[in-house]
Amino acid sequence: MAPAKIAPSMLSSDFANLASEAQRMLSFGADWLHMDIMDGHFVPNLTIGAPVIESLRKHTNAYLDCHLMVTNPLDYVEPLGKAGASGFTFHVEVSKENWQELVERIRSKGMRPGVALKPGTPIEEVYPLVEGKNPVEMVLVMTVEPGFGGQKFMPEMMDKVRELRKRYPSLDIEVDGGLGPSTIGMAASAGANCIVAGSSVFGAPKPEQVISLLRKSVEEAQ
Ligand code: DX5
Ligand code: ZN
Repeated sequence: MAPAKIAPSMLSSDFANLASEAQRMLSFGADWLHMDIMDGHFVPNLTIGAPVIESLRKHTNAYLDCHLMVTNPLDYVEPLGKAGASGFTFHVEVSKENWQELVERIRSKGMRPGVALKPGTPIEEVYPLVEGKNPVEMVLVMTVEPGFGGQKFMPEMMDKVRELRKRYPSLDIEVDGGLGPSTIGMAASAGANCIVAGSSVFGAPKPEQVISLLRKSVEEAQ
């Protein structure tokens, strides 16, 4: 069974105080820190890149779960590897031609490869990446259109999660977008084990309670 990983999305943190925000989330029980890297091209928003990951790495040993919402993920492998990223999750929509090379390079830089898909992308598109001889180790199912925090969870994406869990009992399956106390039940019962949550965690008066509720929901559903 794939263990629960709760990953607060640092996109909802105070970027001007990133190190202390990260420490705060870890002290609240976060397993991973989800880092949303956007290029203003693949998505209509621009966030952080390797220099910020490198700075944060000096303050924490935590698993930095990097989600690449960029048009050319290959260009980011080397700098993110050097910066100390842990997971490197690229989008299948922009990697149809070169995912094998991408996965190989990600692994050679000591990072863990994952693949993400947008709401409109059929789940079948990731199967070859999970089943190949050099497979990705995580599938991220977007439950909102990528680009911004604080959007509404799309329950119809749970069919993708169920399908993946049926096919791959021990794969890391991550959900991202609109997760919180009112939606975690759907994601957990569908079989997701890695939970990204931005606004529901950072916006809560007691983020530690939200983190532990998310974890409990995943564990109870397993
Ligand atoms: C959206 C990002 C998410 C976002 C989630 O494009 O990939 O990680 O920060 O934020 P919430 O949990 O607020 O939907
Ligand atoms: Zn994300």
